[in-house]
Amino acid sequence: MAVKMKYKKLFIPGPVEVKAPVLKAMSHYMIGHRSQDFMNLYADTIPKLKQLLYTNQNVYLSTSSSTGIWELGARNLVEKKALCCVMGEFSSKWAETVKLCGKENEVISAEPGKAVKAEQIRAKLEQGGFDALTLVHNETSTGAMADLESIAAVMKDFPDVTFMVDAVSSLSGVKIEMDRLGIDLLFAGVQKAFGIPPGLTVFAVSNKALEKSKRIPNRGYYFDLQVFQKYAEKNQTPSTPSISHIFALNAQMDAFLKEGLDKRFKRHTDMAEFTRKWALKKGFGLFAEEGYRSITLTAVDNSANLVNVAKLNEELGKRKMHISDGYGQFKQKTFRIAHMGDLNLKDMKELTGTIDELMAKGVCK
Ligand SMILES: Cc1ncc(COP(=O)(O)O)c(C=O)c1O
Repeated sequence: MAVKMKYKKLFIPGPVEVKAPVLKAMSHYMIGHRSQDFMNLYADTIPKLKQLLYTNQNVYLSTSSSTGIWELGARNLVEKKALCCVMGEFSSKWAETVKLCGKENEVISAEPGKAVKAEQIRAKLEQGGFDALTLVHNETSTGAMADLESIAAVMKDFPDVTFMVDAVSSLSGVKIEMDRLGIDLLFAGVQKAFGIPPGLTVFAVSNKALEKSKRIPNRGYYFDLQVFQKYAEKNQTPSTPSISHIFALNAQMDAFLKEGLDKRFKRHTDMAEFTRKWALKKGFGLFAEEGYRSITLTAVDNSANLVNVAKLNEELGKRKMHISDGYGQFKQKTFRIAHMGDLNLKDMKELTGTIDELMAKGVCK
């Protein structure tokens, strides 16, 4: 390799550490995307995803990162005006994307570290004029997680408002029952809790939303839901997909189902609880508000400057580990430890134990 680099175990909120069997599945010999082999692979993968998403509706694969699905939502599912819930950088970018796609929107927001609440959403929707809602379930920039149950309960009172949920950094680490919650668009990139390299996004669409998209003009082509549906009926994708990713996804889905979905979700909760406890014990704070803390990543509040995050990461790097600095304006004030994908409690103990040692030696101050 021309560029020299050393392996580090990733504790960042995507891309995450990818296990050897996934990398192996990705290196499967190539097949044609219009071949029977591909159609078999597709037809085998989608039902497993439906199990994971708790849906009997429509699941698709997009060879794009998740940002593409922000655009898909805006172009296919916003007819009048979207209400965009903003609780950090990613939800803010989705709101911006809606406008850049030429759609009207209004924003309701929560302070950094806080989550947008169900009653805030109800109050705004009651004013009328909205036909879509954008919500980021897990705000990766702040470590705050919205309460899907209470928001879904509100959305049931507004059946004409399309409920779009970015679960990019939570899906497969947290149980999200799409059909029961009445979600119309749900999506995640595979480089986060799915534990696969970046380059593919899984998204699911309700029958109601699929029908709605038919009457929305200017859907473009690459992200036209109707085109996705037309090809899905043949167990294909509209354009040449990243077939290697689909091999990896198929193998990962088998691994998820073998582990057991409930066990997988519990493993994520256990890692989150362990990491939060550790942070508090060390004298750090937790950036996200209580009751709304992410299960897949912890934003550690370092406003007391207990560590220099850049130095900490440098020292961790020497020990083959890597964490994330705070996002944007929260650099150094926070740092983020992801606990998602195929990581387990042993990995979290190894990471936090190493940080303990570095702090004791005073090398990351
Ligand atoms: C919550 C959330 N939504 C959307 C995105 C954008 O994903 P991508 O960079 O894969 O397009 C990210 C990326 O980290 C994210 O965390």
